[in-house]
Amino acid sequence: MRTQVGIVGAGPAGLLLSHLLHQRGIESVVLEVRSREQIESTIRAGVLEQGTMDLLIEAGVGARMRAEGALHHGFEFAFEGKRRRIDLTGLTGHSITVYAQHEVLKDLVAARVDAGAQLYFDVSDVSLHDLDTDHPSICYQHGGEQHTLQCDFVIGCDGSQGVSRKSIPQSLRKDYERVYPFSWFGILCEAPPSSDELIYARHERGFALISTRSPNVQRMYFQCDPHETVENWSDDRVWAELHARADSHDGRQIVDGKIFQKNIVGMRSFVTTTMRYGRLFLAGDAAHIVPPTGAKGLNLAVADVKILSAALRAFYQEGRADLLDHYAETALKRIWRAEHFSYWMTSMTHRRDDATPFEQQLQIAELEHVTTSRAAATALAENYVGVAAV
Ligand code: FAD
Ligand code: DHB
Repeated sequence: MRTQVGIVGAGPAGLLLSHLLHQRGIESVVLEVRSREQIESTIRAGVLEQGTMDLLIEAGVGARMRAEGALHHGFEFAFEGKRRRIDLTGLTGHSITVYAQHEVLKDLVAARVDAGAQLYFDVSDVSLHDLDTDHPSICYQHGGEQHTLQCDFVIGCDGSQGVSRKSIPQSLRKDYERVYPFSWFGILCEAPPSSDELIYARHERGFALISTRSPNVQRMYFQCDPHETVENWSDDRVWAELHARADSHDGRQIVDGKIFQKNIVGMRSFVTTTMRYGRLFLAGDAAHIVPPTGAKGLNLAVADVKILSAALRAFYQEGRADLLDHYAETALKRIWRAEHFSYWMTSMTHRRDDATPFEQQLQIAELEHVTTSRAAATALAENYVGVAAV
């Protein structure tokens, strides 16, 4: 089989890239190891920046997001028993939408299937070949048969555990990493929203985040030990922890309900600055990971794909390779900004067992500052909605 662009991975990066290329008259094939049901039901991120929403709408896959997503104009920090609002729209003129990642994936898969895309789920044994030539290929198993896909370019959109990044020789790679000594315990529950806006809580017991999915389903997280297991946490224990961390002294309490999903997510910052190797380009989590505190992971994947789709369009329609040559440099500016923001939001709001009382007071002083200084709040809000200068 032959195509112009071979895409490894049908996450947000791979599916959106395939869709944007199709709209620009460029052929692609997407290969995904999981099933359609799996990718459409895995619970992950929930916050879409304005730029992400605009791109999805422009690409014709934003109708359900507009109808069912919730537009948020601010969020709250909870600390020292009080709540302080960050007025995102007032400070930046932009807002965010809370719309689950798997709903974005359903919309993208439906659009790709409608367009007759070559999108293969349940593939296995994916390997990349001849990447440093102008005729790279992808070998894989599908339906019990071995296949080879010849292409002009291979785009690695296969997330942090995929095969693409590992296909770049280690000696050529420049990687940066930080592993955090805590994880997030996430729940989905049947309950009305606890608040009109998201709440990021800093508490001496640890961080908590109160988010939402719909008028009847809420998403909440709390910082836990990285060795923790879901089985250790009864529903009662989860609610006691969330109330302890996120209720405020003025009597505002989070609303609990029936928990129907629990999971634990590790926290890592990672960047490979080697986003290109010959005819292989990396996009999204394949190239970089952020801790979830700034809600940047999905948005960064979309930002990479926007740059890459424009560069591939310039290559095929104008015979220009310069945008592809500058892809990593262009994308890395935004990536490092988001890496710093996510690291900073994490450091300001999470408990560290080894933090001294002095360092704990610094966290509180910083939260006081960003919630009272208009200049500091504006810088935070610009990063959160995704319009900070890079
Ligand atoms: P992915 O979504 O990881 O997609 C990669 C795809 O490639 C997957 O479907 C995978 O099955 C497939 N794949 C892997 N290996 C191969 C292979 N060899 N061949 C073919 N296909 C392959 N971000 C937030 O902002 N907030 C959150 O709350 C949040 N929660 C998260 C929870 C979890 C458990 C994880 C893993 C991530 C979370 N993130 C969160 C991050 C966010 O979901 C990611 O940044 C986003 O999914 C990146 O999109 P992507 O397309 O680059 O990668
Ligand atoms: C959600 C996840 C985040 O990482 C975040 O910062 C805000 C919201 C969510 O899943 O709703």
